Amino acid sequence: MILVTGGAGFIGSNFVLDWLTQSDEPVLNLDALTYAGNTDNLASLAGDPRHVFVRGDICDRALVDRLFAEHRPRAVVHFAAETHVDRSIHGPAEFIRTNVQGTFTLLEAARAHWSSLAAAEKAAFRFLHVSTDEVYGTLGRDDPAFCESDTYEPNSPYSASKAASDHLVRAWHHTYGLPVLTTNCSNNYGPFHFPEKLIPLMIVNALAGKPLPVYGDGQQVRDWLYVKDHCAAIRGVLARGRVGETYNVGGWNEKPNLEIVHAVCGLLDELKAHPEGPYARLVTHVADRPGHDRRYAIDASKIERELGWRPAETFESGLRKTVRWYLDNAVWVERVQNGAYREWVSTQYGSPAA
Ligand code: NAD
Ligand code: DAU
Repeated sequence: MILVTGGAGFIGSNFVLDWLTQSDEPVLNLDALTYAGNTDNLASLAGDPRHVFVRGDICDRALVDRLFAEHRPRAVVHFAAETHVDRSIHGPAEFIRTNVQGTFTLLEAARAHWSSLAAAEKAAFRFLHVSTDEVYGTLGRDDPAFCESDTYEPNSPYSASKAASDHLVRAWHHTYGLPVLTTNCSNNYGPFHFPEKLIPLMIVNALAGKPLPVYGDGQQVRDWLYVKDHCAAIRGVLARGRVGETYNVGGWNEKPNLEIVHAVCGLLDELKAHPEGPYARLVTHVADRPGHDRRYAIDASKIERELGWRPAETFESGLRKTVRWYLDNAVWVERVQNGAYREWVSTQYGSPAA
């Protein structure tokens, strides 16, 4: 079996669901169920013996040791993290704990387990660390896209904590020989995306007739990738990636935020027109994010060249699927906006957007 951490979050749950449609290899899913973890995402796996869910913290070494000993996973796919840049600005401590201390704990437990294996199992073992393009910092308008050899220049508490975890993973390979792989991916979107992040926030607010808060001038650029394409990239790296290597993953799809917001509004106008007129009437420019990175762009040619991976979705097809998914899953959307969510919205945006 494989051990997935953070498998009740956005990308982790998409990964687990996809994995089990492609293979019968069981998944041991370790997730602390923080505000971002949602067992509703995994509801379709109820009663499926291939999915073993454990609620627990990656910082809990005794628990992680016990899971390795009992289940003897052949690989770890490590998603668990604190992931929202704005939350990292309000409260960085949890980011250091989970992203740095948690990754350290997991690496140490994996190393202890791996060291005890027979030669063949030892050679086959993999620790795949899921990271982000934000570790590379920000790009100017005409700079080339991030490639794997770029220097790390993280600018937010979130990206600094992810950069630290990437460095630990690298060191555990160079020093101890642990067979690691790292992926650095751009912005994902798709089903089960928690509505604190741009695209689901815009969908959920628009449907509720609330303001659509655009930070600053809305000209910040991100490179968007449909989540299932990210999951396919991770499967490819796990199966065929070269040990010790890092792989950038991206959609070849750079867009300014304002364009994204208008694209979401346009799809909603088409699929669920509002009697008061186009959803874009709700666009509201608000104060910018402190230290806001201006542009990210990923050069994904290494993973394409070495592993033959390319995104299957275009932005148009992926966004249409995503908006459709939110319209078709009103119960999920309603349940995810619980008290803790409303508290966050009021902390970040004040009551008008709540
Ligand atoms: P998410 O916030 O939706 O989910 C994170 C999951 O980790 C949640 O289920 C949460 O309960 C769990 N978790 C948090 N702390 C934990 C702990 N101490 N122990 C166990 N579980 C814990 O995150 P996501 O957007 O799905 O991102 C997953 C990974 O992918 C992260 O490592 C993130 O840095 C990386 N990533 C995300 C994106 C993106 O666009 N969302 C892009 C590139 C990389
Ligand atoms: O690049 C990969 C990263 O993408 C991941 O590592 C992070 O975990 C993930 O959260 C995401 O980070 P971003 O900060 O880019 O994503 P977010 O959805 O928060 O914001 C996307 C852009 O939209 C960013 O420029 C900020 C802007 N934004 C965001 C929100 C929530 C707004 O203008 N208004 C908003 O209300």
